[in-house]
Amino acid sequence: MPKPVRKAVLPVAGLGTRFLPATKVIPKEMIPVIDKPVVQYAIEEARAAGIEEFIFVSAEGKESIAQHFSAQPWLEKNLAAKGKTAELALVTGCTLPPGKIHTVLQGDPLGLGHAVWCAWKLVGDEPFAVILPDDMVLSDKPCLGQLIDAHAKVGGHVVAVENVAKDQTNRYGILDVLSEEGRIAKAKGLVEKPKPEEAPSTLAIIGRYVLDPVVFKELDKKTKGAGNEIQLTDALNRTISEVPFHGYRFEGRRYDCGTRVGFVEANVAFGLAHPEMVGRLLPLIEKLVSQVKS
Ligand code: G1P
Repeated sequence: MPKPVRKAVLPVAGLGTRFLPATKVIPKEMIPVIDKPVVQYAIEEARAAGIEEFIFVSAEGKESIAQHFSAQPWLEKNLAAKGKTAELALVTGCTLPPGKIHTVLQGDPLGLGHAVWCAWKLVGDEPFAVILPDDMVLSDKPCLGQLIDAHAKVGGHVVAVENVAKDQTNRYGILDVLSEEGRIAKAKGLVEKPKPEEAPSTLAIIGRYVLDPVVFKELDKKTKGAGNEIQLTDALNRTISEVPFHGYRFEGRRYDCGTRVGFVEANVAFGLAHPEMVGRLLPLIEKLVSQVKS
């Protein structure tokens, strides 16, 4: 039985250049989808999956991310004094317990593998989760919780996967599949962002991982890969002889908030999934679509 997964690493050091000028001062992870910052969805998903400690791999100027999950006594005092109990609950509801948030600065952005390596000392020698907040997942059971359950059975590394279009393989880590059983695909290799003609499959890694700490030893070699970056996918690939690697076809829908169109799509999808909004939102969307078509 593998050790429990208690810690999550959230790489949030990116500059968010695709969303400039919105991200000139505000971290892209703090831009809201509906009424919550993107990163809050990731934290809620992790908490629902039993994660207790959160490690932000961040950059200068992005302090508001950790602040968002810390107590804000002045705001709380004022809301309480005005009797705004519902609003106060929204504020305190996303506060993490003291000592459970850690921030480590990445310094030079040398790649996702480097970002994860930065969390090594804080994670220690236990399995841990990695969440890329840009990938938002709408599902009945939290996507990370699905991975943690699978990890309890198979151990090693377990990552969320989904099939992508053949011409999209160069945007993802792709599995070289050995065998499949139900939602689980055992991989014999991984390739980061292969050209479609070179991709071993179309089964792509999305931004949820449960990893064995053996990956840190590999990341520590700082070997550069695709895009001249230290790639997490490459380090995982090189540990496949030491620990099993499984992709888990998660139940749910993923939205890629790292692109502008994906961000709009996520807002619409999460709005339609919101019980208080769907009734008013759906006719509005239908009206907009018919206006565009006419
Ligand atoms: C990263 C990983 C890639 C993975 C993707 C999921 O790429 O390197 O393997 O498939 O996240 O979103 P990025 O999107 O940072 O280029």
